[in-house]
Parts: sequence; structure tokens; C-alpha cells
Amino acid sequence: MAPLLPLLPPPLLHILWLTVCFAGAAHIAHAVASDEYLPCEAAVHSWAIKETEIVDREVQLKSADGLQLRDLLFFLHIPRTGGRTYHQCFLKQLFLSEERCRISYDKLRFDPSQPSCKIFSTHDDFSIMHKLDQSSTSAVTNLRHPLDRVLSTYEFSVEVAARFLRFKKGFPGQNPFLHTKSTHLVSTLSIWPWKYLVPFMQRDIFMRRDARLEGHVIHMAPSANTSYDAASIVMSLLEFIHHPVAHELVHNGAMFQVAGLTNNSFIKEAGLVHKCVERYPQLGHQVLHVAKRRLDGMLYVGLTEKQQESASIFLGLMGDQVSGRLEALQQESGKQNVSAPGQRKTVQLQDAAQSLWMAYNSCTRNLQDSCSSRRAAALQLIPPIIFSKEERKLIPDAVVEDILSLNSLDLELYEHAEMLYAKQKQLFLSLNQPQVGDDLELLALLSISVGISGGTLAIGLVLWTRKRVGKERTPVWRRVC
Ligand SMILES: *[C@@H]1O[C@H](CO)[C@@H](O)[C@H](O)[C@H]1NC(C)=O
Ligand SMILES: *[C@@H]1O[C@H](CO)[C@@H](O)[C@H](O)[C@H]1NC(C)=O
Ligand SMILES: *[C@@H]1O[C@H](CO)[C@@H](O)[C@H](O)[C@H]1NC(C)=O
Repeated sequence: MAPLLPLLPPPLLHILWLTVCFAGAAHIAHAVASDEYLPCEAAVHSWAIKETEIVDREVQLKSADGLQLRDLLFFLHIPRTGGRTYHQCFLKQLFLSEERCRISYDKLRFDPSQPSCKIFSTHDDFSIMHKLDQSSTSAVTNLRHPLDRVLSTYEFSVEVAARFLRFKKGFPGQNPFLHTKSTHLVSTLSIWPWKYLVPFMQRDIFMRRDARLEGHVIHMAPSANTSYDAASIVMSLLEFIHHPVAHELVHNGAMFQVAGLTNNSFIKEAGLVHKCVERYPQLGHQVLHVAKRRLDGMLYVGLTEKQQESASIFLGLMGDQVSGRLEALQQESGKQNVSAPGQRKTVQLQDAAQSLWMAYNSCTRNLQDSCSSRRAAALQLIPPIIFSKEERKLIPDAVVEDILSLNSLDLELYEHAEMLYAKQKQLFLSLNQPQVGDDLELLALLSISVGISGGTLAIGLVLWTRKRVGKERTPVWRRVC
């Protein structure tokens, strides 16, 4: 089929592509045709019973263990929740370099039954836990308000897809699929869900580009006022959120990921259960229940909106357990000796607190800077599209409402996460009786004060963070921001 495509005029190509898409969706949906409510109900129910047993064990284990950091720390990275920053600038920094598992976003790169490493992060869903020894693994995750997560998913898909336009100058009409074969692109394109969303958006963006070049303009909405509704350049936000691909990969994505039911799951019935919930939303509450319980059983739940505070409280709560690591880290990086000069300790810890978070801040700033310049460069290829907070405010209320209603389960899960977060914060504050106002960074540091000389720690962390995030040599299109 591929060689035929370029011969067709673009509008036909569009129709053909849509047909292919819907045919694909129809094929999957076949298993859950309209008269199949009962089989669906049974499938979801039997999954829920099995998983409830598992999550109940997780919750029990946690109430026995409390805030015990087990042998392996698993960071469930839900896409577009700032997880890269949280992992790279914070969680990973609590571990020595040899303790960090090999990057496992595209596939597991260590033996999960006998991990020799202590921290790993992935976009895989929670079902990956079936491959790990649950009783020696602590799970943590970050949640973000679903509206922002969906907008960010759309923006990122457009951005990465647009980067490919750079390679296409002067070759109008050429099949953009060819470019995905480039070895440089393996990384972004091999990570779920981008391995589906990016090529999807890429095909779309090229099709619209070709139509413009040839003078056919596909569906230019009279209301094309915002970057989210520029259909002559890129699929509009509205079209995106109603597309079957978004239903499969984006909506209620946090819930499906926490439940272990993405279309990237290790559980074989995941596809059917997911489809059934998509088709019969009333079945979704059973999945939501499992997802909420799972968060209850996690070591810690952070919020993207309060990332640094999340990090501070984590550090404060796990204080005793990480102080030994920090000491070792400091030796790894600074090779300086640790002494504990009693009286000046508080002052030194204040310094340490400041420096630790300065290091964290410079790490996050570096990441943000490189991401935003990469975004700016990509968007230059599809003017006048701009993605920004201001631009987001122009999205019509009706579209926002659609997103919220398509993600109502995620919204509930997010509220549950907020509740858990508030409890964690309360616990932290009650353990630390704040005397220095609300300075959680400082408190977090004070609560791990065991035998660490602040100054050295701070210097170590600053140097070491700089070393880690300084100059990355990966080609720009390869890294996921
Ligand atoms: C487009 O923008 C103009 C002013 O910026 C506004 O008056 C108009 O209502 C907008 N159209 C739509 C469909 O949103
Ligand atoms: C996951 O979803 C994408 C996009 O809809 C689809 O192309 C892919 O085949 C799905 N994968 C599985 C294993 O169902
Ligand atoms: C580090 O300090 C300890 C005492 O606090 C001392 O015994 C040790 O020799 C010192 N090590 C170095 C390398 O200075």
C-alpha cells in the first residue's frame, strides 16, 4: 500500500488514512460490539476481583512497613507529569551511580527477578510489578491534573512530530514514514506512548503540509483563532481528543497506568478490559477503585503542581533511610571528609538546605531551558502555532469540558492523590514541628541531619548535579522532554 499513497491527491489520502484508522479501531472494538455488555461486565469484574486481592496485599504490606524504603525503588512515570525532572533532578540523586538501573523506558534492561540496582523509572504501567519481587520493591509516582496532562500530551505530540519537518524540506510528497527508519529516531519513537502518538501526529502534519503546498486546504475552520484550532497546519485539539487514538492512549491514562491496563500492559486481558471500560464507562469505577487502592499502597505519591514540595516531603519522611546514602554520595562526588561540628550544625544545615535545592533548581532549570528551546525550534517549523499558558486560556470552554468529561475517572484519581498528599504532608509536619515557618526544604534537610556536615554535602550535590545535567550529547530530537 505504501508506494500507492503518494500518487493519490492529499484529500483522498486523508480519507484513506481515516478509513484505515477507523477500520483498525473497529477491528479492536469488534470484541466489544454493542450487544456484548455482559461479557464485558464479566471481564472487568473478574479482573477487578483478582486485582483487588493484589492491591489489598500491597496496602497491608505498606501498613506493616510504614515508610520503609525497600531494596528497589520503582518510579512509575506517567507521561507528561514532570516525571523526568522528578526522577533525574531528585530521586536518582539519592542513589549512587552504580545503584541506578539501566534506562528502561523502551524495555527492561536489567534482570527484574534479581535486580542489582536500586532505582528505576519507566513509562510502562504498573503491571510491570508482576516481573519484580513485590515485597522488596517500593513504588512511587506523581500525578497531575488531567486537563494539563492532556493538553501537554497534545502539545508534545505536535512538537515532536513537527521536528520531522526539518528533514523534509525540498521533498514534498515523499512518504514521511521513511524517516521513522532513521536510527537517530529510535529513542523517542520506541517509548510508549510516543511510539504511537508521534508517528500518528507526524503523518497528520505532513498530510496537511502537503495539502497546503498543493493548494488544497483541508477543513480550515472559520474559528481558527488559536494554536489549538489551526486545522490547516495540524489536527486541532478538538479532533485529537475525540480521535480513537486518544481514547486508547490518553484519556484516563493515569488511571489505566496505575491499574496496569494501558495498551502496553504485561497482563494479557488488559486490552479487553480497557476496551470494555472505554465502551461502557459505567464499568470504569471498578478500575478506579483498584487504582485508588494502589496509590494507597504506594510508598509515596507526589503532585506535579507541587513538585519541589513533593520532593522535600519525600526527603523529610525518608530522612533516616536516605541520610546514609547521601553521605556515601557525598563521598562519591566530593571525596571530602565528613566531620560533625556540633554547634555550627544548624547554620551549616541551612546552608546545606539552600545548596541542595539550588542544585535541584539548577537541574530543573537546565532541563526546562533545553526543553523550551527545543520546543521553540520545533514550533518555528509550523508558524504561527505557539503553545503557552496564555494561549491555553483561549481554548473554548466547551473543549475544556470535553476533556474533563473524557477524563472524569482520572479527575477522581487525581483528587484521591491530593488527599493522600495532604496526609503525607501532615505526617511530615507533625514529625518535624515547624519552627521556621513553612520552609519545607529546610525542614526536610533538618530531618536528615544525622551526622552530615552540611557544607560538604551541599558542595558535593552541586558539583555532582552539574556533572550529570551539564552537557548532554544526545541529538536534540532524540530526547524526551
Ligand atoms: C476569534 O477571535 C475574535 C477576536 O480575537 C473573537 O471576537 C471571535 O469570537 C473569535 N472566534 C471564535 C470562533 O472563537
Ligand atoms: C495501542 O494503541 C495504538 C494506538 O491506537 C495502536 O496502534 C496499537 O496497536 C495498540 N497496541 C496494542 C498492543 O493494542
Ligand atoms: C575523616 O575523619 C575521621 C574522623 O572524623 C578520621 O578518622 C579520618 O581519618 C578522616 N579521613 C580523612 C581521609 O581525612
